[in-house]
Amino acid sequence: MPPFQNQVAVITGAGEGIGFEIANQLVEQGASVVLNDLDEEKAIKASKNISSDGRCIPFSGDVSDVQVVRGLVQKALDVFGGLDMAIANAGITIWNDFLSYTPEDLFKVISVNLGGSFFLAQAAAKAMIEHKKKGRIVLMSSVTGRRAIPYLSAYSMTKAGLEGLARNLVAELSPHGIRINAVAPGATVTPRNLADDPNYEEVWGNLLPVQEPAFPDDIARTALFLLHPENGQITGQTLVVDGGWTGISPVPSLDFVSPPSEKNENQP
Ligand SMILES: NC(=O)c1ccc[n+]([C@@H]2O[C@H](COP(=O)([O-])OP(=O)(O)OC[C@H]3O[C@@H](n4cnc5c(N)ncnc54)[C@H](O)[C@@H]3O)[C@@H](O)[C@H]2O)c1
Repeated sequence: MPPFQNQVAVITGAGEGIGFEIANQLVEQGASVVLNDLDEEKAIKASKNISSDGRCIPFSGDVSDVQVVRGLVQKALDVFGGLDMAIANAGITIWNDFLSYTPEDLFKVISVNLGGSFFLAQAAAKAMIEHKKKGRIVLMSSVTGRRAIPYLSAYSMTKAGLEGLARNLVAELSPHGIRINAVAPGATVTPRNLADDPNYEEVWGNLLPVQEPAFPDDIARTALFLLHPENGQITGQTLVVDGGWTGISPVPSLDFVSPPSEKNENQP
């Protein structure tokens, strides 16, 4: 029997990229999934691409709105009758230098990356407890939560925060049989990264110890390992999937980011 047979998952920000591949692998291995994306068309298209038998259904909305993440969990309960797994994958980056960073941009990054993940974990845990499920939650961190890259101060702060959340919730969720872990991807070839830099794969391949960046399926396999019902001893951890980058941490030229003076007209 596939390892995730009869299991139900919700996942955020999964219209493309890493989240899409996690949803895809979960469905391939027997699960039913409610797939969220901010963009309704992307959510519908992704769900159709993953499954034509109703085991992957779309749910659009912005995860920074707590009603959206609560609605996502409720959808899983209404349609599939339970919830075993939640993956807080949605995360945004707003590149800018620290000295020019605006409150609007900071709070946007915090409300999506931290608020969306925190309240998804909360809504999922409540549902798992109510339905007496030994649930699993995965948060999506980043190597930037551990190593410095210029212009990513806000993003990196949220990612370090998510690792803290996974560590902390062990105390309150373990008594209910719920495990929570994080994945910290390094450079991963996704449509968003390729749009920022068409040479992304080559640039990072030249920098990484393993000489090639990750692809979404590398990150998805790690997430499924942490979600696997039999890996019951692993909780509160962050698994780094970065081709060795945090071992040495070189940074490429960031030419695709506008210099701060061009980006922020209000900069003194
Ligand atoms: N791609 C990488 O190299 C990389 C590296 C480290 C960590 N991560 C993390 O992995 C996760 C997925 O990254 P990705 O590159 O696949 O994502 P991405 O930027 O390609 O976005 C995936 C989807 O998320 C949706 N989305 C954006 N904001 C949303 C919101 N507020 N609510 C709901 N959906 C929203 C987008 O519409 C998009 O379809 C993120 O948390 C990211 O920070 C990615």
